Amino acid sequence: MATLKEKRTCGQRCEDFGHFVWNSDNGTLMGRTPEKWVYISLYYVAFYVVMTGLFSLAIWVLMYTLCPYAPDYQDRLKSPGVMVWPDTYGEEDVEITYNTSDKASWMKMANILHSFLKPYNDTMQTECNRYNCTQGKYFIQNTFSAPHHTKWACPFKQSMLGQCSGLEDPTFGYNSTMPCVIIKMNRIINFLPSNHTNHPPYVNCTILEGQNNVDKIEYFPERGIMDLSYFPYYGKLAQPTYANPLVAVRFNLVREKQAKIQCRAVSDKISYENIHDPYEGKVVFYLKAVK
Ligand SMILES: *[C@@H]1O[C@H](CO)[C@@H](O)[C@H](O)[C@H]1NC(C)=O
Ligand SMILES: *[C@@H]1O[C@H](CO)[C@@H](O)[C@H](O)[C@H]1NC(C)=O
Ligand SMILES: *[C@@H]1O[C@H](CO)[C@@H](O)[C@H](O)[C@H]1NC(C)=O
Ligand SMILES: *[C@@H]1O[C@H](CO)[C@@H](O)[C@H](O)[C@H]1NC(C)=O
Ligand SMILES: *[C@@H]1O[C@H](CO)[C@@H](O)[C@H](O)[C@H]1NC(C)=O
Ligand SMILES: *[C@@H]1O[C@H](CO)[C@@H](O)[C@H](O)[C@H]1NC(C)=O
Repeated sequence: MATLKEKRTCGQRCEDFGHFVWNSDNGTLMGRTPEKWVYISLYYVAFYVVMTGLFSLAIWVLMYTLCPYAPDYQDRLKSPGVMVWPDTYGEEDVEITYNTSDKASWMKMANILHSFLKPYNDTMQTECNRYNCTQGKYFIQNTFSAPHHTKWACPFKQSMLGQCSGLEDPTFGYNSTMPCVIIKMNRIINFLPSNHTNHPPYVNCTILEGQNNVDKIEYFPERGIMDLSYFPYYGKLAQPTYANPLVAVRFNLVREKQAKIQCRAVSDKISYENIHDPYEGKVVFYLKAVK
């Protein structure tokens, strides 16, 4: 202890340090013999090699267990949202207002629907989705048997929307007071809409305001059914040609020709009373025809 407290000059300290770096008396470098330094270096090289190995192994295991075809975490969405086309917004809500005697006005609506339906073109659907689907049953696929290691998807053709397909009437009824709207349910990976295998979801539209102004509601396909063969959806990579099933609804507007309408996707696994998400399971819109 006494030696430590001894007062030393700066020159002595420098000399001490020099001795520490290279001590010629016992041949040590920074207090260790070169031989020891070699061992220490080898130890650290081995240590980092092992660490790198462990790290790579962990990454590899993680990547191996991730399925490239579906996002792993998607507990946010349990029940699908519902949307309506033409998607023309007013101040806040969807407001489908058109003028039957103004061609530009109804052409705008018809054009929105035509471009929305482009992916459902019959020719394209027939070519891209060649699988013969069995209607009325879930299309469960555990293998990737479609071309390019993917899964099959069932065709949904524009013509399945009948009088609202835009094929017979390219105006979709917007040149008159019988306009069509198209209802689409958002996709949720692996979602099965019903517990019971024989119970498909369907769209049910009800008039919230202006009951007297709607004479008739028609659904295409019949009864507004979304066939079970379109479920489950396996994700964009697994099912690149997937087409959402659609439901078109035609309203016969009379008297004041305006109404507030709610269209709901009905099924035991589709909830619709989420106050935080007004579009969950249903969509509300205003429909108004002027002259
Ligand atoms: C509808 O369009 C016609 C023809 O362009 C026009 O005369 C009429 O004022 C329009 N109606 C409304 C309510 O804007
Ligand atoms: C569908 O696509 C075919 C071929 O591209 C085209 O000839 C046809 O006009 C399209 N049909 C509609 C309704 O757009
Ligand atoms: C689907 O059915 C049609 C007629 O029944 C047949 O010609 C076609 O080859 C079938 N396609 C597949 C992929 O099985
Ligand atoms: C609307 O257009 C369709 C198809 O072009 C036509 O058959 C129908 O007569 C038109 N309706 C009116 C009210 O102009
Ligand atoms: C679905 O079926 C299971 C078993 O049959 C039942 O326990 C469950 O309550 C059903 N869920 C709904 C939402 O109907
Ligand atoms: C549609 O909804 C209305 C109102 O909730 C209900 O009265 C009606 O029975 C429903 N229709 C079908 C086919 O479920």
